[in-house]
Amino acid sequence: MHHVGLAELAAAVSNAGGLGIVTALTQPTPGALAAEIERCRQMTDQPFGVNLTFLPARTPPDYPGYVRAIIEGGVKIVETAGNNPQKWLPALHAAGIRVIHKCTSVRHALKAESIGCDAVSVDGFECGGHPGEDDVPNFILLPRAAEELTIPFVASGGMADGRSLVAALALGAEGMNMGTRFVATKEAPVHANVKAAIVAASELDTRLVMRALRNTERVLSNAGVERLLEKERQLGSQLTFEDIAPEVAGIYPRVMGEGDVEAGAWSCGMVAGLIRDVPSVGELIERIMSEADGIIRDRLNTMSKR
Ligand SMILES: Cc1cc2nc3c(=O)[nH]c(=O)nc-3n(C[C@H](O)[C@H](O)[C@H](O)COP(=O)(O)O)c2cc1C
Repeated sequence: MHHVGLAELAAAVSNAGGLGIVTALTQPTPGALAAEIERCRQMTDQPFGVNLTFLPARTPPDYPGYVRAIIEGGVKIVETAGNNPQKWLPALHAAGIRVIHKCTSVRHALKAESIGCDAVSVDGFECGGHPGEDDVPNFILLPRAAEELTIPFVASGGMADGRSLVAALALGAEGMNMGTRFVATKEAPVHANVKAAIVAASELDTRLVMRALRNTERVLSNAGVERLLEKERQLGSQLTFEDIAPEVAGIYPRVMGEGDVEAGAWSCGMVAGLIRDVPSVGELIERIMSEADGIIRDRLNTMSKR
């Protein structure tokens, strides 16, 4: 998660039994990523991964350099997202790295399987960030993925608690991935205003932006986003990235670092409607596991005929 997936949060998640992920592109250079990987390693002796996002960018990042930093940093799990990661798979696999590609459709998940990805993360329409252009929610997308895929997958988008975990498992996933829920934790290295905005938001408070650019993003509604949407309404199919750059470019440091949550577009899932507190990561994961266990033991078990 851009400007959220720093060593503090990744290490906290890994220390609590999850798989923490450091966001590569939040680091301005491959050298800075190498230092962040090392910082994370100082905070946890558990495995953690690195996310490498391939999205349209005005100036493409130094991807070969980031891949080198990941390999030389001894990371063993990479989550790729956005464009097809095929070009990078031979180098990552040669270094013994497992690749989880994030997909928003069965079509893309099957493509990821066919090019040799080890697993996929299936992101439904409700997810924070980039849900793709098909708009299929997880109640349909996950079982469809289970029908088609042979590689394992985790459910992503709308996951918040033990109910989400049990549902994800029931729909065929091996586990779940959480974005927005982890932003509202004590260890998330973001301004308190961001956590408060997520807690205050309901499931009705996200908006989809940049659809006309086929780069749809689910973000939290705010003054900057409403300005952006007004431009989208006025310009329609004529919209260009430059038109909305004031509400999109360079927003993350202002939001996450300075707490200016009205500045513009920052990713947030509909799951905000299920987030009511700011626990530590350890408390959150413990609560999820015991809630899931309770649902299976006390509710589902009693419904079974066997
Ligand atoms: C603040 C924020 C920033 C994100 N940045 C990225 C990113 O840089 N790359 C990426 O692949 N996904 C990014 N995501 C998406 C998450 O990794 C994850 O797929 C998504 O949040 C799951 O949906 P949920 O928010 O409903 O849990 C971001 C999400 C949030 C909330």
